[in-house]
Amino acid sequence: MIFYFSGCGNSQHVAETIAAGLNDKLVFIPEAARSNRYDYTLAEGESLGFVFPVYAWGPPKLVLDFVEKVKVEVPEPVEGPIQNNGFNFVESSISTGSTTLPYVYFACTCGDECGHTEKVFRKAVEARGWTLSACFSLQMPETYIGMPGFKLDTDENAQRKIDAANAALSGFMPRLQKKESFSKMIVGGAAWLKSYLVNPGFNRFATDDKKYRSTEACIHCGKCVKVCPLQNITLEDGRPVWHGNCTICMACYHHCPVNAIQYGKATVGKGQYWFGKK
Ligand SMILES: Cc1cc2nc3c(=O)[nH]c(=O)nc-3n(C[C@H](O)[C@H](O)[C@H](O)COP(=O)(O)O)c2cc1C
Ligand code: SF4
Ligand code: SF4
Repeated sequence: MIFYFSGCGNSQHVAETIAAGLNDKLVFIPEAARSNRYDYTLAEGESLGFVFPVYAWGPPKLVLDFVEKVKVEVPEPVEGPIQNNGFNFVESSISTGSTTLPYVYFACTCGDECGHTEKVFRKAVEARGWTLSACFSLQMPETYIGMPGFKLDTDENAQRKIDAANAALSGFMPRLQKKESFSKMIVGGAAWLKSYLVNPGFNRFATDDKKYRSTEACIHCGKCVKVCPLQNITLEDGRPVWHGNCTICMACYHHCPVNAIQYGKATVGKGQYWFGKK
């Protein structure tokens, strides 16, 4: 089972690729949280995967909130004699007490670097009594442009990142299939500062949707309403209104067909991107 979050499609692409390779099921975290679905049961031998974008050098808060709440039942190991050419074999798997530990991994996408995303996520997973066995990060096109100085990749650079990420992902797939333990993260410099000081500040002060506005260019199409993973937007008199439950994924900004959404002044003239945009 793969629990995933994605605003602009990069992480969704990664989650779908892993799901196809492992023949696994996908659960979109915002949908699960919205419908209060926190109880899941894994099939025997099924892995527990998480896929998400890196936000301010850490996992998005909504992903950590979900990890804290989700309950995952793991089937008891099969123990009993199995007839085979006259010999009796006993099948068993590693278990702690009454529950078998699943193979837990995460994959994250980032524009550049992840800081201590691994440490933060590992701690969240361990608080649930699981062990994080594998994790990796993939550089994908940048989506955050909500502050001065942040800009999108050029089309060439975006495509180069996607090609490299796809190649890296095909290398990671057999390792996930074999349930290997590994860590391949792009940490970057000043990681402690970014993940443990800047990240909480970002979550507290830079995820306010009050800075969003639509311009006169709006054609009232409702695309921003449809793409918001948190259902945070409604149209009033044909124009979007933001309702305060925002993770600053920037999907509404990027998907507007006439670029009529701006985030303060920071996004003006910066272009748009989403995974699959031609
Ligand atoms: C709010 C926000 C914060 C981000 N912070 C980081 C970051 O700390 N490091 C980084 O390399 N990329 C950062 N990014 C870029 C995204 O991690 C990257 O573009 C990711 O692939 C987007 O995934 P998605 O398309 O699934 O939403 C940030 C993007 C957003 C929207
Ligand atoms: S996507 Fe853009 S044009 Fe369509 S309703 Fe939203 S702001 Fe208006
Ligand atoms: S309002 Fe826009 S930025 Fe906020 S969660 Fe929805 S799509 Fe993402």
